[in-house]
Amino acid sequence: MDRNLALELVRVTETAALACGRYMGRGEKDAADQAAVDGMRKAFSAVSIKGTVVIGEGELDEAPMLYIGEEVGTCRPDDKEVDIAVDPLEGTNLIAKGLPNAIAVIAMAPKGTLLHAPDTYMKKIAVGPKAKGLIDIDGPVEKNLKAVAKALNKDINDVTVIIQDRPRHYDLIREIRRVGCRIKLFSDGDVAAAIATCFEDTGVDIFMGIGGAPEGVIAAAAIKCMGGEMQGKLNPMSDEEMERCEALGWDKENVDKVLTLDDLVKSNDVLFVATGVSDGELLKGVTYLENNRARTQSVVMRSKTGTIRFVDAVHRLDKNDILKETLAKHK
Ligand code: FBP
Repeated sequence: MDRNLALELVRVTETAALACGRYMGRGEKDAADQAAVDGMRKAFSAVSIKGTVVIGEGELDEAPMLYIGEEVGTCRPDDKEVDIAVDPLEGTNLIAKGLPNAIAVIAMAPKGTLLHAPDTYMKKIAVGPKAKGLIDIDGPVEKNLKAVAKALNKDINDVTVIIQDRPRHYDLIREIRRVGCRIKLFSDGDVAAAIATCFEDTGVDIFMGIGGAPEGVIAAAAIKCMGGEMQGKLNPMSDEEMERCEALGWDKENVDKVLTLDDLVKSNDVLFVATGVSDGELLKGVTYLENNRARTQSVVMRSKTGTIRFVDAVHRLDKNDILKETLAKHK
């Protein structure tokens, strides 16, 4: 993956974040998402790739832009063919309510190497590099937690588990409390939560629970860049979700196969880019400054080199044509 592409992709997530950041706290999650999609779609048109969206806003009949199968980028004959996974606004409720940790995010890898995940739930477990190789999504919760404590040389009572605050996790939460670990609940945004396991200063040691399968692939791309580990298992919760799995080749016999990090993201040459929309533990959100300017913070990762780069930028909202057009549409 050409390293210059990483910086081209930052412009794309920055545009999405700047477009939807204005909706913070306005209670309009769909409008915020639409602004992010518009901004991201427009910004992609300047990126020198022949990209196919494999994780996007939905099937063509339900999403006019960034739908699964859509080609994005300049798409010139000698442009690199890549798979693209996007979540223009990960955490639509977060931004609607003005809560932290909303991000705009993209993962990119050579064509055919990102899992085409159905739009269903996925059971997930993720850890940072030190606990790599020691977790088992099918294993007992206690065993996984003790393995992480040992790998990090931590007392079991000091291990912090991050889990989405949902009734479907109540049994899991009860079990973690019995074992004696600390728990950090989050309301939305499990990409940022899973990634937090790979940044030591977040204090988050292990991510567990059930969230979106598409988000699972995106988080896996970042975790691959950072040398951590993630496993997933599709977890359809309705007949309709099972049908979506079947449409992509998973039947009742193989739907609960364990998906390793390499199943989720086959290539070892993946890029991950995210820009903060609202302030979070990892990234600052969009800050609007005087004189029509705004500041963004992004993170760019490349698995080939393992470089993790934070990019701070100050934008002139009235000078960038793509941005101007998107912002004018979403007032
Ligand atoms: P959206 O940005 O699409 O609203 O997703 C937010 C999110 O919290 C994801 O991070 C997570 O994977 C999923 O929703 C969990 O789904 P649910 O809200 O149905 O529990």
